[in-house]
Amino acid sequence: MPDSLHQEQVLILDFGSQTTQLIARRVRESHVYCEIHPFNMPLEAIKNFKPKGIILSGGPSSVHDEGAPLADPKIFELGVPLLGICYGMQLLAHQLGGVVEKAQRREYGPASIDIDLQGDIFHEIEKEGVRVWMSHGDRILKLPPSFKAMAHSDNSPAAAMGDPHRHLYGVQFHPEVAHTPCGKDILENFLFRICGCRPAWTMKSFVESAIGSLRNKIGNDHVICALSGGVDSSVVAVLLHEAIGTQLHCIFVNNGLLRKGEAETVQRVFRDHFEINLIYIDASAEFLDRLKGVSDPERKRKIIGNLFIEVFEREAAGIEDARYLAQGTLYPDVIESVSFKGPSATIKTHHNVGGLPEKMKLELIEPLRELFKDEVRLVGRELGLPERIIMRHPFPGPGLAIRMIGELSPENLEILREADAVIQEEIEASGWYEHVWQSFAVLLPVRSVGVMGDERTYDQVIALRAVESVDAMTADWARLPYEVLAKISNRIINEVKGVNRVVYDISSKPPSTIEWE
Ligand code: XMP
Repeated sequence: MPDSLHQEQVLILDFGSQTTQLIARRVRESHVYCEIHPFNMPLEAIKNFKPKGIILSGGPSSVHDEGAPLADPKIFELGVPLLGICYGMQLLAHQLGGVVEKAQRREYGPASIDIDLQGDIFHEIEKEGVRVWMSHGDRILKLPPSFKAMAHSDNSPAAAMGDPHRHLYGVQFHPEVAHTPCGKDILENFLFRICGCRPAWTMKSFVESAIGSLRNKIGNDHVICALSGGVDSSVVAVLLHEAIGTQLHCIFVNNGLLRKGEAETVQRVFRDHFEINLIYIDASAEFLDRLKGVSDPERKRKIIGNLFIEVFEREAAGIEDARYLAQGTLYPDVIESVSFKGPSATIKTHHNVGGLPEKMKLELIEPLRELFKDEVRLVGRELGLPERIIMRHPFPGPGLAIRMIGELSPENLEILREADAVIQEEIEASGWYEHVWQSFAVLLPVRSVGVMGDERTYDQVIALRAVESVDAMTADWARLPYEVLAKISNRIINEVKGVNRVVYDISSKPPSTIEWE
């Protein structure tokens, strides 16, 4: 993006908090562009970034720990407004001549604070009984010279502090979390009243500016885009199409492991509606052939990933003049962060086209690399993508192959596809689609006895999986109403030949995972 897009930007220095990304999302929701960088970003780079404000995130350390991450003290002298959150506030106190001590007891969870100094970051915030979320062990014993306590709680005499003259502020609590109901107002007071930002970051402005800069960058060259039908690649395709029209070539590979109707929908939306150059390749037979006799899930993944690259390369070679490969990389993938990263959700979620650009000697174009997922959805809406695509659940690259335990067969794929279609329909009809992260069928390698009419059956079992999650790192099984479960089970057993039993998976992640394989 050209610098002009971000005439006003806020810098978030990350000290390793689990909520650093949440701070960034809150700032963006207030229509101010911001970026997360590691706490030790060099001073020169900070100056070049020209932040309108700096936010120091929380973090797991104590300022007294050996090797605790510190800020470059010169950032306090830049004249740039600064807000320290939790560890960020303690750091401010510690580095500017105050005293931070271990509190008698750790303060964790909901707390109530009273405001001692209204105005500034507490402009129009209630004076007493303000509900906030705390999570800290240390507390500030002595404020740095020239700072005033702005709020207190029973456990923290300085739950917030400020030196309004130097525009330096700190809050002990977490304004970025939903458990601090007035947190958005406090952050906006900082952004708009203290930093003087304007709420200019909108997806409309992003789209306009992205189209301009994509045109500049690409010129008369051609771009290839691997379209999967998921939200990210769909938005990339439509955005690029707006920018360069027929210079864009989308390739959609049907690997035979897609959901029912998927290939048709993608062609209808992108070729017929958006009039995008779409190359549709039905490689199902090739994929199924390569997967014959394979039952190990990681081998399935490898085979599918490699063959995808093969097929894609083959088709892309036919597109002369192609110089770029477009990819739907999002901001959370590029943040160079010191953040706590739980059990990685990426263990299995390898990039399915990883290695492609280098192999094909194409340059990468990643028009969404500044955006969070919720922003990508807004961009999609801005570009007129159908709601069904915008709100779509994630679907794994290896598709139905990892939802069929053991070896694949065309007959079993058909069963799984039909059962999955029933689940999608019923989850949508019940209004649960937007509450669940993913819902799908898994075909188990088990046969069990049943009766249909007067006949004994010996058929297969479908496991229904429906989970709630925010980021797939952790997930809990969805408490779907019995009526919805009953309807799904009835329909699958009645409509999908070869299935006589449906079970509901009631395991959470961890220790289970979302997918079965
Ligand atoms: P698990 O099963 O690890 O899944 O709890 C977490 C998220 O990742 C998706 N997933 C994949 N996505 N290729 C993908 O593109 C894969 O091989 C893959 N495996 C799991 C899964 O659907 C869930 O959203």
